[in-house]
This record gives sequence, structure tokens and C-alpha cells, in this order.
Amino acid sequence: MKQPIRVAVTGAAGQIGYALLFRIASGAMFGPDQPVILQCLEAPIEKALQGLSGVAMELDDCAFPLLHGIVQTSNPEEGFKDANWCLLIGAKPRGPGMERADLLKDNGKIFIEQGKVIDRVAAADARVAVVGNPANTNCMIASSQARRLPPERFTAMVRLDENRAKIQLAKKANVLVTAVTDCYIFGNHSPTMFPAFHLAKINGKPVPQVIGHHEWLRGEFCDTVGKRGAAIINARGASSAASAANALVDHVRDLVTPGKIHSVAVKSNGLYGFDPDVWAGMPVKTSADGKSYEVIKDLPMDDFAKSKIDTTNKELVGERDTVKDMLR
Ligand code: NAD
Ligand code: LMR
Repeated sequence: MKQPIRVAVTGAAGQIGYALLFRIASGAMFGPDQPVILQCLEAPIEKALQGLSGVAMELDDCAFPLLHGIVQTSNPEEGFKDANWCLLIGAKPRGPGMERADLLKDNGKIFIEQGKVIDRVAAADARVAVVGNPANTNCMIASSQARRLPPERFTAMVRLDENRAKIQLAKKANVLVTAVTDCYIFGNHSPTMFPAFHLAKINGKPVPQVIGHHEWLRGEFCDTVGKRGAAIINARGASSAASAANALVDHVRDLVTPGKIHSVAVKSNGLYGFDPDVWAGMPVKTSADGKSYEVIKDLPMDDFAKSKIDTTNKELVGERDTVKDMLR
């Protein structure tokens, strides 16, 4: 039996937390032979901590063979202690009529403290995945606090957008979602994101060739993917939770699975024309040991793709300007 890994989950009693913890404990994230210790961190609010105690009871009652321990705490030092993975979900969700960037002032400060504590107490191999919105910029804030952990350990989630793009293409072409490959998200987890349909394939053939409807790809497709979060909020009265948790399972699992290529928001370092210091979605490939990744470089971008990337980059730079006082 392998040694258990420690997985810190913030916002563990929230909507996404409830859809996520059981999947991690069942082995969906780290594999069927990898035991885990869940280190659940909640806000220091009685109702949240009481909720968390109920979630922990349910986790116990599942008798998951891979679940070797549950920590419940509102103390970040305890929550992140020796953590190998830090899943940063705990933050306010937006309501109807809001954009994710409207959450920056409130949510950004959570990531200042958490970035510092993770850098101080997490395991030497700690990796971070940010979900709390606006995810790209919160990830940049957390990484900016770190002196020990390098920026490439800090990733933000755009995998929900990749999954959304794939299913829209599959439905339009009347194929199973498994027929859609090479579908990557560039930029911000916001309506400005660019789901790069010109690179995507259906049964190995270029999407523009299979679908043929260029206006739909440039218009309705990009809009549907970019505004899917708001559509769910309008329909459900609450933001996506099960699909977000599922995307985080995909995000982490593919980051530890050798050779996997998928969309992740990472420090751009100037690739694809992004400002070097923003966190932007792009395709990354996991290394042979499953411990790091490399960005897939030099994919072709036509004028439409370049203008979409320019727009989403400008938004990311604008968000960074808004939080410049939170960066270290
Ligand atoms: P929720 O309100 O149901 O849960 C958030 C939880 O975080 C609450 O239990 C709250 O007590 C806790 N929390 C708040 N501050 C905390 C802190 N400092 N430390 C630890 N816990 C803290 O919200 P949710 O629906 O689970 O969504 C969480 C976040 O994820 C939101 O910001 C939402 O917008 C975002 N989200 C992102 C994506 C994505 O694709 N990146 C998808 C869906 C939701
Ligand atoms: C989503 O894309 O579903 C989440 O980011 C929640 C939101 O605010 O849209």
C-alpha cells in the first residue's frame, strides 16, 4: 500500500466541497491505489464548521478504504500542514447579474493569507489548484506570496470551460463527447476566454471542417461556453457545483497522469502573447513522472484567435491592476 498523500481542501463545507470530497476519497482524483488524508479547511464561522462536521460524518459513513484520515479545522496552519495538494475553493460565489471579477476585492484577500501559509507549512512537493473566483487572478495573488514554492506549482482551473466546450462541439456535430479532442481554453475563466475551436478535432478531423458553420463557431459557440456559468446561476439560483467539482477531479488527475494534455491556467511567461505575469489558460502536457508539466507551445493562431487572446489578456492585466496592492 502506498503512503497516504495529504490533500487540503478549502471551503470544504460549501457546495463544491460537498460534491468533491467524496470523489477524492473514492480514488477518482489520485487513483484506486492511492490513500488520502483530507485536510478540510473552513471559514471560522460556527455554521460552516458545524456543516463541516456533518460532511465528515458522512465521509466516515462511506467507509472509503482509501480515506486514511480527516482533519477539520478553521486554522490555515493546520489545514495546509504538510499538504501535498492544496485545493483552494473557499471563496464567495457570484450571484445573478455579477461578473466573477466583481468578487476580486472580497475574495482576493483570502488568497494573500492562504498563499503565505501554504508557502510556510505545506509539503516540499506541494502543488496548488485554485477554483475560488476569479480563479486566474486569485491564483496569481496566492503565488505572489510564495518564496519557497515556484509559480509553476500554482495552477487555476479552466477545465470546466474545456469540458463545456467539448460537449457543445459534440452536440453540434452529433457525436459522442469522446470524439472531441485537442479542445483547449486560452485566457481567463470569464466570458472573454477563448475556446480554441480551430485547434480542436472531431474523430481526428479539424472542427471547422467537420462543423463547417464558421459563424456559429466564432459567435454562438464562444458565447455559450464563455457565459455558461451565468446561465447555470440563472437556472439554478446558485453557481455550478457538481460540474465544477468534476472539473477539479479532471484538472488534478490529469496533472498527475504522465503525458496528459489539457487546459490549465498557469503563469503565462509571455507565451501566446499573454502578459508574462498573468495566469492564463493554455494547453499543458504532464511530465513522465507526473510531477510537473510543460506548456504546449507554438500552436497556430489565426487573426481571430489572436484578437480573442488579446481581449482576454487585457482583462487579466486589468484584474491584476485592480489587485496590485495584494501582490507581494
Ligand atoms: P459556497 O458558498 O457554497 O462555499 C464556499 C465555502 O467557502 C463556504 O463554506 C465558506 O464558509 C468557505 N470559505 C469562505 N472563506 C473561506 C476561507 N477563508 N477559508 C476556508 N473556507 C472559506 O461556494 P461554492 O459554490 O462552493 O463556490 C466556491 C467558489 O468557487 C466561488 O468563488 C465560486 O465562484 C467558485 N467557482 C469556480 C469555478 C471555476 O470553474 N473556476 C466553478 C464553480 C465555482
Ligand atoms: C462557473 O463557471 O460555473 C463558475 O465560475 C461559477 C460562476 O460564477 O460562473
